[in-house]
Amino acid sequence: MDQIIVTGNGPLSGQIPIAGAKNACLTLMPATLLSEEPLTLTNAPRLSDIRTMTTLLQSLGAEVQALQDGQVLAMSSHDLTSTRADYDIVRKMRASILVLGPLLARFGHAEVSLPGGCSIGARPVDLHLKAFEAMGAELDLRDGYVHAKAPAGGLQGGIVKFPFVSVGATENALMAATLAKGTTVLKNAAREPEIVDLAQCLRKMGAQIDGEGTSEITIQGVDRLGGATHRVVTDRIELGTYMLAPAICGGEVECLGGRIDLVAAFCEKLDAAGISVEETPSGLKVARKNRRVSAVDVTTEPFPGFPTDLQAQMMALLCTAEGTSVLEEKIFENRFMHAPELARMGAKIEVHGGTAKVTGVEKLRGAPVMATDLRASVSLILAGLAAEGDTIVSRVYHLDRGYEHVVRKLSGVGAKIERVKEQ
Ligand code: EPZ
Repeated sequence: MDQIIVTGNGPLSGQIPIAGAKNACLTLMPATLLSEEPLTLTNAPRLSDIRTMTTLLQSLGAEVQALQDGQVLAMSSHDLTSTRADYDIVRKMRASILVLGPLLARFGHAEVSLPGGCSIGARPVDLHLKAFEAMGAELDLRDGYVHAKAPAGGLQGGIVKFPFVSVGATENALMAATLAKGTTVLKNAAREPEIVDLAQCLRKMGAQIDGEGTSEITIQGVDRLGGATHRVVTDRIELGTYMLAPAICGGEVECLGGRIDLVAAFCEKLDAAGISVEETPSGLKVARKNRRVSAVDVTTEPFPGFPTDLQAQMMALLCTAEGTSVLEEKIFENRFMHAPELARMGAKIEVHGGTAKVTGVEKLRGAPVMATDLRASVSLILAGLAAEGDTIVSRVYHLDRGYEHVVRKLSGVGAKIERVKEQ
């Protein structure tokens, strides 16, 4: 297994290109299952989660070709051979559940393994299933699989009212509704940019959708969808992560492709901490104004609030802030696994349930640490940039799920970082 060694060495300067969004791509790829005609995605990120979704789609008989070094995904679901997503693939990646809506809508039946819990929380899929029931589907949970069946004439439009916001359930229901008979209204829908991106792609394929980006989405079902070519939206979480690099160790970095509307709530907190963010013709330029950042309180919320997927990275920044910050995690019940690892580097963090109190220290010290999930692993790398000495991060396969070329991108702006085989 590989490790990443980071040696804190002062201010950064230069440009970092931001990739297409992993979480948009993971819902755009299953959208291919809705149509017989080809769907091509450009600006796809090169990540292990994308390769897992490729394997899953191929196991159903879809053609998926990665072109131009993986940045273009040319897909066709013309000759699907299966409507069953096996446990062996689903257990590797929870986003696999996103094939259920498209398969059910196009073929009238599907079997998808239930994803288990994961390191950040229990993460059930009951909201996805309730949405399909509201469209007339019959669901049977047996042998660890969801066996889903649409009524004889196919899924029926209906009112789906989510009791709380779920990104994945909104995506699954949105895809299914494009081919349902009549009108579907999704109430209390997620408003994330990845949902907007999915709706825009589905519209290019011929779907009739209104209201994406608001909490009520209306879909008028159509008989069939066609092909399309779509550019994956910028990864706002990769963007926020790299914006934190100069924030944490000083300097000035321009994140190419960055857009303020994708990270507005996050930028407000950066501003309060003393980090300047400036829009440029090609992205966002980030610089640290003061010697030390100021403490700020952060509460994670669905979009447009502060994203849970940037909470670990923000905590790394606040570990060296002047004063005490309180971070509240409202989306997942167990998303502070990075706190004890940051503590190994000298951070002062007290966790009580969903709240973490972080008292900033003057300097972090490098230490051997372990990645527990994707965002936790990158928070340790960010902390390493600001620490004295070497930080050795193991279990970096978590990182490969969501960050392409992390060593190349950070060393490109002057960071001392290398990937080595574990001793
Ligand atoms: C998406 O997960 C992202 N994953 C996550 O990204 C992200 O953290 C999350 O949205 C929140 O923004 C992908 O897009 C592939 P949810 P998702 O359904 O859709 C509960 C990363 O690091 N819930 O919005 O699974 C759930 O347990 C990741 O890239 C139910 O109870 O998240 C959670 O507490 C990790 N029942 C909350 O809702 C359900 O049926 C929000 O989850 C569905 C969700």
